[in-house]
Amino acid sequence: MKTIGVLTSGGDAPGMNAAVRAVVRTAIANGIKVMGIRRGYCGLIDDDIIELDINSVSDIINRGGTILYSSRCPEFKTEEGMQKAISNCKKHGIEGMVVIGGDGSYRGARDMSLRGFPCVGVPGTIDNDISSTEYTIGFDTAMNTAMDMIDRLRDTTQSHFRCSVVEVMGHGAGDIAINTALAVGATACIVPEIPFNYEKDVIEKIEYSKANGKTHFIIVVSEGITDVTELAKKIEDETGIESRATILGHVQRGGSPTVRDRVAASTLGYEAVMLLKDGIGNRVVGFKDNKVVNYDIFEGLNMKKKFDELTYTVVNTTSL
Ligand code: ADP
Ligand code: F6P
Repeated sequence: MKTIGVLTSGGDAPGMNAAVRAVVRTAIANGIKVMGIRRGYCGLIDDDIIELDINSVSDIINRGGTILYSSRCPEFKTEEGMQKAISNCKKHGIEGMVVIGGDGSYRGARDMSLRGFPCVGVPGTIDNDISSTEYTIGFDTAMNTAMDMIDRLRDTTQSHFRCSVVEVMGHGAGDIAINTALAVGATACIVPEIPFNYEKDVIEKIEYSKANGKTHFIIVVSEGITDVTELAKKIEDETGIESRATILGHVQRGGSPTVRDRVAASTLGYEAVMLLKDGIGNRVVGFKDNKVVNYDIFEGLNMKKKFDELTYTVVNTTSL
């Protein structure tokens, strides 16, 4: 291939810039021109496309967000949108695309591939919810941010003998919640993969810890399970422990990427270009057993994500 494109799509994630940098530098090192598509699939439809040279990706490896911007683009799911996107690619001589995003973005890449346009998906999302990889770019930074925020909450929770109910992101996956809960020594952790029993999983744990001398409590809850403000009120009413709810929200998506995210992003960006360079498209790259792997996009999208049973058990065993 002589020219490839790169875009970031869906929720942004720390490390996406490092991935874009790796794509650009690897491509140029291999004699391939790179076009950057701004605002994800929306930019592909609107022809918001610029050339990326070596210097255009200088000083971004350490930056959160994405210099290419991102979007959720409903029009891309229509045949008309898809055709506009493919015709804009042709106009710029783009022969293959690196799509950095989550499962939704992979579906878009699959649909382009189905129409004969080769794409390679790179996993970029804080949620770690992509089944074809053990690790997604942004996950480590998001967990560290959540941990830092909850450490701060702990200070005030402890001073006031309170209970803090903290909602973290995850988009249907409990990975951020489980790992963060373990790292902050939470009393309880509620995740979407395990049915939640309010009395057993929250009240009994708080009462047990209190009986053992604990004076403050952190409850980590994945988004989308329950209203954390109501949960805090119920805990206060039932246990008499003053409780507060905090939704960490989009702070988890920002900030300078950690070493792990910069390295993962650079490695996967490199791998994606090396596939396209050899004319191989319709793939997703990722990690299995800590090694870089790639799968057919269809196969990748049909894989089932494994729940991290061990870490969840460690959280519950050590929290008391
Ligand atoms: P993520 O990539 O983080 O999972 P989304 O699910 O919002 O984020 O998907 C990002 C974009 O990918 C969507 O806005 C849409 O443009 C495209 N997309 C998602 N699902 C499909 C689909 N089934 N077919 C085509 N494009 C899709
Ligand atoms: O996929 C990343 C994510 O931050 C999820 O954790 C969350 O559910 C969602 O995106 C939030 O989306 P938005 O930025 O549209 O509010």
